Amino acid sequence: MMKFMFVCRQCRTEHSCREQLWRCPCGGLLDLLAAGAAESAEAPAGAGLWKYRACLPIDRDENIVSLGEGNTPLVPLEQNGRSFWVKLEQCSPTGSFKDRGASVLISKAKELGLRKVIEDSSGNAGCAMAAYAARAGIECHVYVPAATSPAKLVQMRSYGAHLVLVPGTRQQTADAALAAAEKEYYASHSWNPFFFQGTKTIAYEIREQLGNRAPERLVLPAGNGTLLLGVYIGFQELLKAGQIRRMPRLMAVQSERCCPLRAAREQDRWPPQDCSPQPTLAEGIAVASPVRGPQILEAVRESGGEILTVTEEEIRAALRLLGRSGYYVEPTAAVAVAGILRLETSLFARETVVSVLSGHGLKAGTAIAAILEQD
Ligand SMILES: Cc1ncc(COP(=O)(O)O)c(C=O)c1O
Ligand SMILES: [Zn+2]
Repeated sequence: MMKFMFVCRQCRTEHSCREQLWRCPCGGLLDLLAAGAAESAEAPAGAGLWKYRACLPIDRDENIVSLGEGNTPLVPLEQNGRSFWVKLEQCSPTGSFKDRGASVLISKAKELGLRKVIEDSSGNAGCAMAAYAARAGIECHVYVPAATSPAKLVQMRSYGAHLVLVPGTRQQTADAALAAAEKEYYASHSWNPFFFQGTKTIAYEIREQLGNRAPERLVLPAGNGTLLLGVYIGFQELLKAGQIRRMPRLMAVQSERCCPLRAAREQDRWPPQDCSPQPTLAEGIAVASPVRGPQILEAVRESGGEILTVTEEEIRAALRLLGRSGYYVEPTAAVAVAGILRLETSLFARETVVSVLSGHGLKAGTAIAAILEQD
């Protein structure tokens, strides 16, 4: 079994995982330090992502909150002369990869004896947290921008979440949740390090599905980095355990209309200046100031990867291509495939490239209808 400690990214203080912390008392972001080997196939102990139980930070089995997440198919796809693999995360219980993070985070909340959690999101993370909290019998308050279309809130409501409508921007919603989190446990997908322990299991699964080896490259949508950082943590653990030979290159894909990571890389500073976001079809990654921005940049750089940006037209084109291949995904999920179409075709003859279909199209019917009307 792996053993875990919190470590603060700012003051480097270590804290026990039995404390009800989501950030360091100094205000810094917390990571989880793992000791012990990554065991993947050797220690099967549950279904779906709980197969990797030995690498997950939950002490007692009775605290596991699962809806059947993980173990999603990895399928080959060919688009415009490029052959690659996609992991079908849209098949997750609430329709996105966020279920992995929510399963582990809410299991931890149960283990800590919490009765109530708060989260802020207008989309997939809010749905995932609401569903797992419902299953655990934990009260879930989701802060959402007041202007969020009612259709998006239906799924959260169906899980019984309490919605707190905040007037103003997405940032003002995050600020309101942060203020409320002074008194409550913040089950934030961006701040709370347990979330990333769930998303890291994507790396474990990909390695097994490719015949116990890592791909050369992953192309992933990036907003708050819960997918990309989770995948990075997972492959780092596998590397340390000698189960893969090298870290895959991580390519982060953002919308050209909201690309703080690219701006920061170009300006070589965090936060970047003059990064005024415009509305984009890729609403799931329209994050103007991701709290873990420097950490995402570090992961991309250390893996030898890059940051790509794609236009609205490229997102629409990728969404249409995916539809014609039989995959109905939300526009944010098409961003990664739009990123793949940016890469040279010759690269695919040399490398195994993997991407993730991160969210289901059934959640975004209105936006997709508008895209198809432009055909
Ligand atoms: C469908 C979809 N894809 C990708 C992402 C990107 O995830 P992250 O913000 O963790 O980088 C999100 C985030 O909400 C999403 O909803
Ligand atoms: Zn600290």
